Amino acid sequence: MSSPLSARYRTAFVTGASTGLGGAFAQMLLAAGVEVWGTARDPARLKLAHAMFHPVALELGDGPAAERAFLEAGKVAGGFDIVINNAGFGAFGAFAHTDFAVWEEQFRVMLVNTARLSHAALRGMLARKQGALVNISSIAGEFGMPYQAAYNTTKAGLSALNESLMYEVKGTGVIVIDFRPGDYRTDFEGSVRRPPGAAGPGQDKAWAAFTAMMQSGPAPVGAAADLERALLRGRSGTVRSGRFFQAVLAPFIARFGSLNLKRKIQEKYFGL
Ligand SMILES: NC(=O)c1ccc[n+]([C@@H]2O[C@H](COP(=O)([O-])OP(=O)(O)OC[C@H]3O[C@@H](n4cnc5c(N)ncnc54)[C@H](OP(=O)(O)O)[C@@H]3O)[C@@H](O)[C@H]2O)c1
Repeated sequence: MSSPLSARYRTAFVTGASTGLGGAFAQMLLAAGVEVWGTARDPARLKLAHAMFHPVALELGDGPAAERAFLEAGKVAGGFDIVINNAGFGAFGAFAHTDFAVWEEQFRVMLVNTARLSHAALRGMLARKQGALVNISSIAGEFGMPYQAAYNTTKAGLSALNESLMYEVKGTGVIVIDFRPGDYRTDFEGSVRRPPGAAGPGQDKAWAAFTAMMQSGPAPVGAAADLERALLRGRSGTVRSGRFFQAVLAPFIARFGSLNLKRKIQEKYFGL
């Protein structure tokens, strides 16, 4: 099947394709006729039954092994035209009361090894003078969520990486998309780690507000439609996706309002 997307992009690699946003991105690409290599830690969780879908086992906690899995899949695919670094998880708890190993792991998975796959992906794309690198950041990079310090920091860092790369790929035929979703209804909130003993004042209220926002969020198919449009535009940029407040109003306030106003809004949102 041919489509405007498959006319431009032949193959894609999507991390965290077993559920949520990654699953929706993979389905969108397959429906458009793009061949997809999708990952999960346990490939048995990859239930997409499609002749053009290839399951890949990938654990982002192990950088060298994750890069090997990516490069091996790339050999079979003949190179990836789209790479979507989507896999990730949340950790919720007061920073000072949580074992530092929890934060370190989040940094390793969501920043260091996500950057590692971006590095490997860009080398291939720049050599072929084509491709789209998509890193899934978050509105949390600019509107930090209370009690999710490491998550906010990794997403802010990932967006900074994306912005830096946009300058570097200019004129090369390669594009970089910094994709920043608001809350979408996925398995994310169910898989958020809440380490024991990590209590802080206001934590329960913040957790209640966070879960309510996640559960009332739109379905991931909306994020996939936004990403498809961005890929078809064919140029580097930041894409915000989600409810009007999170995709339009909040980023406007983040850019043009005062930092104090931004913090006040977050405090109200999270009942602090
Ligand atoms: N949902 C939202 O509202 C939202 C908002 C902003 C940003 N995001 C971002 O969007 C991305 C996807 O989140 P989601 O909401 O779709 O969550 P999700 O439904 O929980 O999916 C997370 C995916 O990441 C994979 N994953 C988790 N830890 C991994 C690890 N250590 N190594 C390799 N793969 C791992 C999971 O695969 P397995 O468990 O099967 O291995 C799963 O496929 C994340 O980067 C998240 O931060 C989500």
